Amino acid sequence: MLVEKNVSLQGMNTFRIVAKAQSLVRVASHQDVQELLQNPHWRDWPKRVLGGGSNIVLTGDVEPLVLKSEVMGLRLLEETDKALIVEAGGGESWHGLVRWTLQQGYPGLENMALIPGTVGAAPVQNIGAYGVELQDRFHSLDAVDLQTGELFTLDAAQCGFGYRDSVFKHTGRMGLKDRAMIVRVRLSLPKPWKPVLGYADLERHMEQSGNHAPDAWTIYDWVCDVRRSKLPDPEVVGNAGSFFKNPTVTEEQCQDIIARDPKVVHYRLDNGSVKLAAGWLIDACGWKGKTMGHAGVYEKQALVLVNRGSGYDGNGATGGEVMTLAKAIQTSVYERFGIMLEPEPMVW
Ligand code: EPU
Repeated sequence: MLVEKNVSLQGMNTFRIVAKAQSLVRVASHQDVQELLQNPHWRDWPKRVLGGGSNIVLTGDVEPLVLKSEVMGLRLLEETDKALIVEAGGGESWHGLVRWTLQQGYPGLENMALIPGTVGAAPVQNIGAYGVELQDRFHSLDAVDLQTGELFTLDAAQCGFGYRDSVFKHTGRMGLKDRAMIVRVRLSLPKPWKPVLGYADLERHMEQSGNHAPDAWTIYDWVCDVRRSKLPDPEVVGNAGSFFKNPTVTEEQCQDIIARDPKVVHYRLDNGSVKLAAGWLIDACGWKGKTMGHAGVYEKQALVLVNRGSGYDGNGATGGEVMTLAKAIQTSVYERFGIMLEPEPMVW
């Protein structure tokens, strides 16, 4: 098992922040982890799992051993009357999986097209977009215990999915943060396929095109279109997608805010609470397009923080600058609306 030393992580995080892993191992199978754990030094050393690096902020060099997920493979596992069960290696690109399923004629993931990152990272924050979350298509996953090397399987209930949340984001007795590496994910694509078109941006495409019965590829194209029009391409502008979660408030809190800001974008949830658009709140505080140090707020979507430097010219944002900007945004949203925004990415 080759442990690489002082590995640059700049190309391995979509913010393109400059930082190094003091030690890094590329994991192509769960046996690689088991082999690593036979070495007493690495067995006891703290570890972090790195997928596509699209949901992390690096605030310095990384001392724990970085396990870079490179478990590959895409296959149809099973077809029943009710669903197609597809299995993918944790190191596969998520968008690559979405494309592959559509090419095979297995629709169901099209609303989640173009989400950056790997398949193994998808359950960690229960990725979602345009009306579909990973948990809506999830079957089960295999993970390897980073202390014992044991391979285990979790179903959806055991993953504890919530909005951009799962057991893999939590420490403590029930949490699996830094304690397990997801090596394979199985998805269940329901039969017959039903389009999910409730989201305003997709309804707009339906109206404009006059196509009211789009197939999965058309929805895929529309989703790619919407994302390209409002989210920065990490290949061009360093970023980690939405930087904050959309906050949930009570009906009373929402009425208070509406009384002062009638235009606040909000969605009523089934449980009686109300979700607010964090992007709108940040925008309303005047942050859109602003820059602090080398970090900035994206011009077309205030929920996305970006690296103003090219990232490779030594003139890019540090993780500290990104976090300073994030804190300034949190403070101003709190002062105006009484809401503390919660960051979405993990801070390393
Ligand atoms: N808005 C503004 N100003 C802004 C940004 C947004 O007024 O600067 C308003 C929009 O006009 C819209 C509302 O806020 O009415 C919501 O914006 P949008 O549709 O862009 O979605 P979002 O709530 O900001 C969420 C997810 C995205 C996902 C989209 C589509 C979170 C934290 N983000 O964004 O996920 O792609 O919905 O489903 O839930 C991600 O998690 O990294 C991510 C990109």
